[in-house]
Amino acid sequence: MKIFDLKNVISIKDFKKEDIKFILDESSKFEKIAKSQGTSNELSGKILGIMFFEASTRTRLSFETAMKRLGGDCIGFTGSDESSVIKGETIADTSKMFESYSDAILIRHSLEGVAKFISDLVNVPVVNAGDGAGQHPTQTLIDLYTIKKEFGKIKNINIALIGDLKYGRTVHSLSYALGIFGAKMHFISPNELKIPDEILHDLEKKKISYHETHDLKDVIDDLDILYVTRIQKERFSDVEEYERIKGAYLIDKNLIEGKSLIVMHPLPRIDEINHDVDNTKYNKYFKQAFNGVPVRMAILKNIIKH
Ligand code: CP
Repeated sequence: MKIFDLKNVISIKDFKKEDIKFILDESSKFEKIAKSQGTSNELSGKILGIMFFEASTRTRLSFETAMKRLGGDCIGFTGSDESSVIKGETIADTSKMFESYSDAILIRHSLEGVAKFISDLVNVPVVNAGDGAGQHPTQTLIDLYTIKKEFGKIKNINIALIGDLKYGRTVHSLSYALGIFGAKMHFISPNELKIPDEILHDLEKKKISYHETHDLKDVIDDLDILYVTRIQKERFSDVEEYERIKGAYLIDKNLIEGKSLIVMHPLPRIDEINHDVDNTKYNKYFKQAFNGVPVRMAILKNIIKH
């Protein structure tokens, strides 16, 4: 039987294909408990320390739900003003406190590399809940799990990743994993928000092929999945540039009616998916958000040791 031996969850590139498959299989075992059908005490007495320097709804709350559904508990803060960081305490010192008080640390920060930095300082497992425009590995596991649930496979799935591919950390993580599993990827963005060269180089090194275009119409009829992302206002240094680009792609019911695709989105959405898609068969983004609970239960169970 496969033994999952990753100590930290920092980048999806740290996962071998077998590690990802293992977490996806484990996640399905937690579906019922995630829906409150049954209970678990697998992490009874364990505490997850949550250090969030950026706002969150799904990542924070689904991790908290996952921990509590496994019989564990959580401590933590969101925003520097809820901790002594506001008095000038360093992130390094703060993480040493979390190491003393908890059995694993979940960190979100606006700077790329902070989760890795903390994982080198502490002896408890560290999970990257998003580091700036870097990585969001647990979101990627949720996305893969959702695809597997919807299609029964990932290989040869035709998927377009559309929107802010420059700053969107979910796409940075997901493209690598999709490539490992043999999905057919299309990157669709305005010129200003193209996927960074270093991500493309990583794909090329792994001999993973991809297709880039500005126009969704080029590929929409061939798609199994339209993976929509938000234009990330908070990462723009020039607000006028954001205002100019923000409406680049708007997905509505009319655009996708009659197509054989599903719509995914890591959320939050602003206006890139019209609300008229919500009550259609195309909408899988709310199910995708729910899937955060079983997937994060599987991650927590396998990194927090008894
Ligand atoms: N998908 C995601 O990371 O959502 P939150 O920013 O609400 O955590």
